[in-house]
Amino acid sequence: MYVKKLNTGTTIPAIGFGTWQLAEGVEAREAVKNAIHSGYRLIDTAAIYGNEISVGDSVCNSGVSRGALFVTTKLGRGDLGYKTARLAFETSLHKLGVGYIDLYLIHWPGTDPRARKDSWRALGEIYKTGKAKAIGVSNYEISHLKEAASYSDIMPAVNQIEFHPYNYQQQKELLEYCNEHGIVVEAYSPLARGEILEEPVVKKISTSHRKSEAQVVLRWALQHNTVPIPKSGNPDRIKQNIDVFDFELNEREMELIDSIK
Ligand code: A2P
Repeated sequence: MYVKKLNTGTTIPAIGFGTWQLAEGVEAREAVKNAIHSGYRLIDTAAIYGNEISVGDSVCNSGVSRGALFVTTKLGRGDLGYKTARLAFETSLHKLGVGYIDLYLIHWPGTDPRARKDSWRALGEIYKTGKAKAIGVSNYEISHLKEAASYSDIMPAVNQIEFHPYNYQQQKELLEYCNEHGIVVEAYSPLARGEILEEPVVKKISTSHRKSEAQVVLRWALQHNTVPIPKSGNPDRIKQNIDVFDFELNEREMELIDSIK
């Protein structure tokens, strides 16, 4: 499995499996089981997805050792704050039942700077206990990242943001900022929830590489130095979405995808 370095000194798999909208129970359990079986090692969930119990079940029963898997979950918007964050983390850890969390993220910055600061302090303490091997944020803008740097010497290891060709131009500056500051960018909704697959430019490039439209767009995200976390409930597509390491997009193809509006 290809990996990227985190600012903690550990690594994160280069691509992950997103579980947003996979319902607790058989849907999430089967999808995560299929994903791990297909070779995914990064499984991304969140308290708000409501599927941590099933995700944890599949991780624990996958037959793959815990150390080889990378589990992410996130602090819900309603739990921002010091005490609430500490408690929410324990709840997620308990539901997942996976011993420790590889990456714990603040899911949304919210509107209250004080709550963000208190949450980050809580995450810093959780990180120091070793119960979370890395901590980070999601949906943070440059201003939020600068704010965090102003009061903490622990920088987020990751910023997970919506990233796909339709919003590339808006996210470019944030991506550059993260790259410059050693923050790995994870790309959620890398397929723009499936919409991007209909774009003629993507179709054309996919034909010339004999790869699917989804594989082309995921490859584009990888070549932009992000960790894409595509979501699928379909076993064939789950498998297809990780098979993106045997081809490369050239500069022209990258530019063509960059400029899709
Ligand atoms: P499904 O779950 O039926 O496979 P995103 O990750 O950007 O949120 O996109 C997820 C959407 O894209 C889901 O609707 C998913 O549907 C669909 N999808 C995921 N992988 C593929 C693929 N390889 N080909 C076509 N559609 C896909």
